[in-house]
Amino acid sequence: MDELTITRPDDWHLHLRDADALEAVIADTAARFGRAIVMPNLKPPVTSVADALAYRERILAALAARVGEGPGADFQPLMTLYLTGQTSTADIEAVAASSGKVVAVKLYPAGATTNSEAGVTALDPLDEVFTAMARCGVPLLVHGESTDPSVDVFDRESSFIAGSLDRLRERHAALKIVLEHITTAEAVAWVREAGPNTAATITAHHLLHNRNAIFQGGLRSDFYCLPVLKRERHRQALVSAATSGDPRFFLGTDSAPHPRSAKHSACGCAGIYTAHAAIELYAEVFEEAGALDRLEGFASHHGPDFYGLPRNAGTLTLTRSAWTVAEALPFGGEVLTPLRAGEQVRWKISVS
Ligand code: DOR
Ligand code: ZN
Repeated sequence: MDELTITRPDDWHLHLRDADALEAVIADTAARFGRAIVMPNLKPPVTSVADALAYRERILAALAARVGEGPGADFQPLMTLYLTGQTSTADIEAVAASSGKVVAVKLYPAGATTNSEAGVTALDPLDEVFTAMARCGVPLLVHGESTDPSVDVFDRESSFIAGSLDRLRERHAALKIVLEHITTAEAVAWVREAGPNTAATITAHHLLHNRNAIFQGGLRSDFYCLPVLKRERHRQALVSAATSGDPRFFLGTDSAPHPRSAKHSACGCAGIYTAHAAIELYAEVFEEAGALDRLEGFASHHGPDFYGLPRNAGTLTLTRSAWTVAEALPFGGEVLTPLRAGEQVRWKISVS
C-alpha cells in the first residue's frame, strides 16, 4: 500500500505550552489533527474552567496567527482541568456546562512529572469529585505513575496501577478513565480486563522505541520522557494493543516540547516532541506490524467514540514518500529537537 486515506485523526493527549512556545508548535498539530486534548500543566496550572477558556482563546489566537485561513484553520482544542486537592464538585459542574469546550480532568500525582507539583497527593479525599465526574460524564485522564521515591523508576506505572488505580476503578465503576501514555504490559492488561469505561492512549515514541534508545552510544536525553521508555517486551505489548482494533486503545502523542537547552542539560526535562510528524510515525509502526488497515480505528475512531464526540468529517491522506526531519525547529527564542532530527520519516501527509 503506497497511499492510505483515513478519517481526519485527533490527538487525545498533547502539550501545547503557552505564549511564543505555543505559537511555535500549534501549526504542526493543526496540520494533522482535527482536535487535540490539551494538557493543563502550565505554570501556574489550569485549575478552573475560566483558566481553561482563557487558555483556549490563546490557542485559537496562536492558530490564527500561524495558520490563518490555511489547512488546519478549523483545528479545535479540547481543554482539560488540572485536578488538585481543592477541585470541587462545582468545578466539575462548570466543566459539564462548558458547551464541550472543556472535556476532561487530568490527574497528576504530585511530583510525578513536569509541572505536577500542584497535583494530587491522595485519591480518597477526592471521592465526591470523582462521583460528580461519573454523574456528569466527565472523563478522568490519569498520569499513572507512583511517586514513592523507593519505587524503581521503571516500575512506577505498574506500582500505581496496583496501589491506586485498582481501588479507583472498583470504587467508581461508572467513571470514564483514560490511562494516559501507557508504557507497560501491565497497563495493557489492566485496560483489557476492565469494562468499556476504561481506555488508554499510546504515544508514537513508546511504540517506536524501547529504553535502549536512552543509552545508545552515550546518554541521550532527547529520549527521556515520562513515563520513561521501557523494555522491548513492553514495547511489543503496546504495539499489539494499538494494532489490535480494540476500541479502548487510541492515539495520544504526548508531544511535549522543551527548549533544547532544557533537554541537553545536567538535569534534562522529560518530554519528546513528535507533533511535526505524529501520524506519519504511527503509520510506520502500523506498517511494520502489518496493520495499516487498523490505523484509522486507532487514530480517528476509537477516541471520539470513547469521549462521545462525533468523528471528524474531513480526511487525511498518507503517501509513501520519504522526507528528512529538520535538525532543529524554532521554539520561541530557542530551538527544540524533534524526534528523528536529521533522519528520515517514510510517510508524507496531505489533508482534505
Ligand atoms: O515526558 C513527559 N513530558 N511526560 C509528562 O508527563 C509531561 C510532559 C511535559 O509536560 O513535558
Ligand atoms: Zn503528557
